[in-house]
Amino acid sequence: MLATVSGYPQDLPGFVALYESEKVGLVTYNITGASCEIVTIDSIRPSSGVGSALIEAVKDIAIKSGCERLWLITTNDNMNALRFYQKRGFVLVAVHRNALEVSRKLKPEIPMIGDHGIPLRDEIELEMMLDDLAEQ
Ligand SMILES: CC(C)(COP(=O)(O)OP(=O)(O)OC[C@H]1O[C@@H](n2cnc3c(N)ncnc32)[C@H](O)[C@@H]1OP(=O)(O)O)[C@@H](O)C(=O)NCCC(=O)NCCS
Repeated sequence: MLATVSGYPQDLPGFVALYESEKVGLVTYNITGASCEIVTIDSIRPSSGVGSALIEAVKDIAIKSGCERLWLITTNDNMNALRFYQKRGFVLVAVHRNALEVSRKLKPEIPMIGDHGIPLRDEIELEMMLDDLAEQ
């Protein structure tokens, strides 16, 4: 079950996934013009369909809002997310090399080493074009 939320983080709209009234996932998004960015997505009940349901909910609202593009940023160490997104129709469109170096100037607590012991360096942009989906 999904419920709408607003106010977190930074006043973005989103959806909470509920399992037997327990909150098990949250996605937030930001629609700007014809683009919808997935800003955060987190599941605390991995591998039970929560993340997929959250993606579908944002995809649905993005299409209904007339968006042509759904996109997001992940980091170079997040192998799980890269697999997850690509299997759900996202494609890689850009690597923002050393983007984390800039982010660390604002948030020094960002670690140097990420998941799997991989140096945390780059931002990877993925997108899904929605105009074709809207016509189906
Ligand atoms: C990425 C993330 C949101 C995915 O959420 P999730 O709830 O695990 O997603 P799902 O359960 O829908 O899918 C995950 C896997 O479980 C499998 N799965 C889904 N339902 C299942 C079920 N009932 N039984 C067995 N496997 C199942 C899916 O097939 C999927 O595998 P695949 O990606 O190889 O196809 C989650 O791993 C997460 O919160 N990660 C930490 C935060 C993060 O990295 N966010 C992204 C930052 S860009």
